[in-house]
Amino acid sequence: MLFGAKGSIGLDIGSSYFKVVQLKDTKKGYELELFDMLPIAPEIIVDGAIIDSLRLVDALKELIKKSRIKTKNAVIGVSGHASVIIKRISLPEMSEEDLAESIKFEAEQYVPFDIEDVNLDFQILGPREEPGQMDVILVAVKKDIINEYVTVVKEAGLNPLVVDVDAFALENMYEVNYEIEPNRNVALVNIGASTINMNILKGGVSVFTRDSSLGSNLHTEALQKAFEVTYENAERLKRGEPVEGVAPEDAYATIISASEDIISEIARSLDYYKSTTLHEDINEVILSGGGALIKDFTRVLSEKIGVESRMAEPFRNIFIPKKFDISYMQEMAPMASIAVGLAMRRPGDR
Ligand SMILES: Nc1ncnc2c1ncn2[C@@H]1O[C@H](COP(=O)(O)OP(=O)(O)OP(=O)(O)O)[C@@H](O)[C@H]1O
Ligand SMILES: [Mg+2]
Repeated sequence: MLFGAKGSIGLDIGSSYFKVVQLKDTKKGYELELFDMLPIAPEIIVDGAIIDSLRLVDALKELIKKSRIKTKNAVIGVSGHASVIIKRISLPEMSEEDLAESIKFEAEQYVPFDIEDVNLDFQILGPREEPGQMDVILVAVKKDIINEYVTVVKEAGLNPLVVDVDAFALENMYEVNYEIEPNRNVALVNIGASTINMNILKGGVSVFTRDSSLGSNLHTEALQKAFEVTYENAERLKRGEPVEGVAPEDAYATIISASEDIISEIARSLDYYKSTTLHEDINEVILSGGGALIKDFTRVLSEKIGVESRMAEPFRNIFIPKKFDISYMQEMAPMASIAVGLAMRRPGDR
């Protein structure tokens, strides 16, 4: 192992929940060592920005204690259309070293932020049809956002080893758990509380990513309005639990109607992808994130967009020892998807 026997945790810091996963590399593949979650008060992270870092540090310390996290090394992810730009671009063929030298210059026209304010990374995908050109995935992440998250992680006593991008973590989760079929278009869609991360894979290679600033908070807000309940009670209703004065059956219609905006957003992105690729069909949607746990969401989405949609199984190819509560794991698994992808990252790999 690259960094000692204790490995690293994948730490997904969402606006509503911490999700932590630790995996062990064994001869037979991955084995789960740790999976846990902890809610984060909704006012601490807003629109991807850390509003109250002191409280976030405290909450992270609480997670470390509660989940008995022994490892200091943490891989975290960032996302959000205001902080992360991922673009597939075409460049003249050149070596990795040369591109590393000139990436800033090349990136300037594709990144809508000051180039000095972002960290740049790239991956050369290979030659294009046009001679002398190559396909490159360009990734730009605002330094501000990286600093905010890295600072919190350090203050909580962890060592932020890698800062990844949520959409790529989703892709890593997929690669480990699913058979890749050439030419099959699979849309990975993660619905968090305030963000939807999408990554469309063609034959297992990412061809389109998009983050939107919508999420399952839409359900919470709709419930709060319709029934004049607190945030906490709206969250209970979302999980199908009764709260005083409101039966889950009554909440159901409000939830389904609040899903419409989320579904339109997903449909818009899929349509956009189709329009840029001579109408290639999406063969399948793999749904993850807490928003995917909304009752009947998968079914309603499938019906509305006409594409078979399934819940992600991030632990499908990961051995789960008996000490874990299997039924809880199965229920919550879709929420762990990004954390699983992060937990697989090793420093230096691409
Ligand atoms: N069992 C459930 N049923 C319905 N909704 C749920 C359930 N569990 C969680 N959620 C909702 O899912 C959301 C949390 O999901 P997730 O942890 O993926 O989001 P997050 O990572 O915190 O948010 P973001 O990535 O947008 O910042 C919350 O809005 C929560 O109410
Ligand atoms: Mg999230």
